[in-house]
Parts: sequence; C-alpha cells; structure tokens
Amino acid sequence: MFDFAGSTLFLTGANGTISRAIARLFFDLGASCVLTDLDEPGVKAFAHELDPAGERAIGLRQDAAVSTDADRCLAAAKERFGAVDAVVTSAGIYRDQMVHDMTDEQWRQSLDVNLTGVFYTCRAAIPYLSDGAAIVNIASMAGHKGSYMHSHYAAAKGAVLTFSRSLALELAPRVRVNAVSPGLIDGPMVQPLLRARGPQLIEQTPLKRLGQPEEVARVVAFLCSDWASFVTGESVHINGGLYIGS
Ligand SMILES: NC(=O)c1ccc[n+]([C@@H]2O[C@H](COP(=O)([O-])OP(=O)(O)OC[C@H]3O[C@@H](n4cnc5c(N)ncnc54)[C@H](O)[C@@H]3O)[C@@H](O)[C@H]2O)c1
Repeated sequence: MFDFAGSTLFLTGANGTISRAIARLFFDLGASCVLTDLDEPGVKAFAHELDPAGERAIGLRQDAAVSTDADRCLAAAKERFGAVDAVVTSAGIYRDQMVHDMTDEQWRQSLDVNLTGVFYTCRAAIPYLSDGAAIVNIASMAGHKGSYMHSHYAAAKGAVLTFSRSLALELAPRVRVNAVSPGLIDGPMVQPLLRARGPQLIEQTPLKRLGQPEEVARVVAFLCSDWASFVTGESVHINGGLYIGS
C-alpha cells in the first residue's frame, strides 16, 4: 500500500461523495489534507470528523469558480503544511439542460466550475508544489463521449482532459499531471440519471453495477503515488467497462 506520511493533499470540492472517499484514503495513508469546498460548514465538519484533533486535516471555503479563492487556499495550505505534494481537483456541478434552452448563465456556470476552476487551482498550486508532486484532475466519461442533456458539462470535462495533458508537458519533469474519468459512481450527482435510465445503464456496464467512490479514490491515490512515477499526461477510465459497453 502507498505511504503518504509527511505529504500534503490539496483537494477541491472536498465535501462531495467521491472527494470524501479520496480525502479518507489519503488521510488513512498518512497525508495531511487541505480540504476545500463551496460548502464551508460542510467541509469544516468533514475535516473535523476525519481528524478531530485538527492536526492533519483542515477545511476551507473555496468557490472553484473564483481565482482569488484558489490563491488564498493554496497560500493557506503552504502556510499550514509547507509544500503541496498532491493536488486533486474534484469540485464539479452536473445539471440537466438541453442546448436549445440553455441560458448564457447556465453555460457559463458549468464552464466556470468544471473547467476554469481546474485552471485556477492548478495555476495557484504551481509555486507551492514539491519536486515529484502529482496533480490529478477529475474529468468524466462525459468528457470523452459527450452526454445527452449535459453538453456544458461534457464540453468542460473534455477540456479538462486536454488541459491536463498540456499542463503535464509544461510541468515535466518535476511534476506529473493526470486525469481520471469516472463513469457512473454511486452518489447524489447521478441520482437523476439513475432514475431516468439506471437499469439500462447498469445493463450496458460489463461489470453490471455502479462504481463506488472508493474505487475512484484508489486510482487517484495510485496516480499520486510513486507507483505511478512514470505516468504523466494520461487519463484513466473508471467505469466498469461502460465506455466500451455502450
Ligand atoms: N458521481 C459520478 O458518477 C461522477 C462521474 C463522473 C465524474 N464525476 C466527477 O467527480 C467529481 C466529484 O463528484 P461527486 O460525485 O463527488 O459529486 P458531489 O455532487 O457529491 O460533490 C461535488 C462537490 O463539489 C462542491 N461544489 C459545487 N460547486 C462548487 C464550487 N463552485 N466550488 C467548490 N466546490 C463546489 C459541492 O459542494 C460538493 O461538495 C466531480 O468533478 C464530478 O464531475 C462524478
């Protein structure tokens, strides 16, 4: 198993279902965790639940769509724990909307959180990254395939994939940058989709089930670990085969 003792994780959208699993795993593996989310009370309560002593986990408010929030939170991470060894961008919003009546604001909000927010956090992290640090951006299967009623989300996630590869070129050889693309992972984000097409989507999934948040967390931990020391500019699908099955 990987040992993250003495290292620091910076995680956005940290009060989400997948993000909590990532935080728990990194914390259990010894990392200090800077957990940020738009939901400040939620993320602070989660940090406290993870680490009641407050020694290795802190919760901060960060609106992913606001560049100064990224700057402030990364500076706070550096001040509290020193250099940052792993950055995972997990803040995301997934809202149903057909293109024909999507408003400018709906388009902009999705791009601001799902794409521009990744840029803001990565850019703010660069000065504080340790040698050998790793960034993992959470994209989505939608970023590869497109997604009915989620064109804004799919466009943003597709751009996260190409942004991650471009950043991997810029930060090599000092820092590795990868992305992961979850498929259907159990949690509130996919409940509307499951209500509409759950049985059909599970039937199309060769492994015949939803993914669990912990199964995403393990891939993220692998990519941040030395076991992935020669992996950069990659994206890893985590979808039980849904991508090839549908
Ligand atoms: N759940 C899935 O099946 C699935 C599939 C593919 C990709 N993803 C991606 O995985 C990531 C985590 O998803 P999840 O299932 O944990 O989602 P979730 O809805 O459980 O959590 C999302 C978190 O992001 C936070 N957030 C929303 N807007 C924000 C903003 N402006 N700034 C900062 N934080 C904000 C929310 O408060 C929440 O804590 C997202 O990027 C999502 O797009 C999820």
